Amino acid sequence: MSNFANLVVDESTVILAIETSCDETAAAVVMGGNDVLSSVVSTQIDLHAQYGGVVPEIAGRAHLDLLNPVIAQAIRESGIDERRINAVAATHGPGLIGALLIGVSAAKALALTWEVPYIGVNHLEAHLYAGLLEDPTLEMPLVVLLVSGGHTMLIEMRGHGQYKLLGRTIDDAAGEAFDKVARFLGLGYPGGPAIDAIARTGDPRAISFPRAMMHDGLDFSFSGLKTSVINYVRNNPAANTADVAACFQEAVVDVLVSKSRKAADLIGAKGLVLGGGVAANSLLRERFMEMCESEGRRGLLPSRAMCTDNAAMIGSAAWYRWRSDGPTTLDSGAFPNLRLPLLDSTWARGKN
Ligand code: KG4
Ligand code: ZN
Repeated sequence: MSNFANLVVDESTVILAIETSCDETAAAVVMGGNDVLSSVVSTQIDLHAQYGGVVPEIAGRAHLDLLNPVIAQAIRESGIDERRINAVAATHGPGLIGALLIGVSAAKALALTWEVPYIGVNHLEAHLYAGLLEDPTLEMPLVVLLVSGGHTMLIEMRGHGQYKLLGRTIDDAAGEAFDKVARFLGLGYPGGPAIDAIARTGDPRAISFPRAMMHDGLDFSFSGLKTSVINYVRNNPAANTADVAACFQEAVVDVLVSKSRKAADLIGAKGLVLGGGVAANSLLRERFMEMCESEGRRGLLPSRAMCTDNAAMIGSAAWYRWRSDGPTTLDSGAFPNLRLPLLDSTWARGKN
């Protein structure tokens, strides 16, 4: 195989990107880091819903069945010939090992066949790029609130690949809290969209749930809130589910938005960006933008499709990583516990 070290990565560079870290099978064709030529997402939600959460074994098998047709569709919809593809990227962590391996193996096989580089992408870094993908003119430093099913972090983005951790959850991730509360309320899986929908008909002032660590630095805690909701419903069996959902959501959003504002003040951010699946939440989107406006800071909400797992963000992050670090070697594997690479790595072992 040829040596790819001398390849130029520029605005015309086309990357086929693959995402299979959890329960979405996705492929996209992205040119120059932010021009999305196609983005296809095939969700497995229906397959997992009957079990109340993602079943790793089922996810791996479904990726295997779905990936080839999804890749073919992404190439077809991009309108380009596959010979025009300059590299193949895939999420190589964090995520479910059996699921990650399907995407990584497919990407390497295609890279070998087409004699182009393979680029392994950090899924968390890709979520940070969802906002920039839609508006590459955003100036740094940025505060990115990354809220997904497995992570809740406030990140200072100083430049491409330059991240500082400002705050993180000390227990449950925000999405995990949405999913657990929804499950307890009998709203099904995934919980975030279900709570988002039913909360619209509830009274957000009906019940006062705690805002943990509200005035205590930039870290978050959501497990006490989840317990409060459960205790409240047990003690008030006739409680209106829409009211409970609305008040729970209000408490989560209050803390997320208040800490994002503090983080932006702390670093003098030029802008604030939302990322991760919970960034699809209607109330969070509304309050986040209201806060940015009242603070006189630029706010960016990636479209909902870009917030939840997709391969366009993988293609974008891959372009920047390839430009700075070069391609990934083919003997590199999948990393279920991969972390976001931080400038200040003194905090190295905690959950992020
Ligand atoms: O980023 P993502 O698609 O997958 C991970 O990398 O974790 O995030 C999934 C999480 C789930 O917990 C889901 O309930 C939550 O995002 N989510 C939402 C909404 N849509 C998805 N949470 C609140 N409101 C929503 N509209
Ligand atoms: Zn994700």
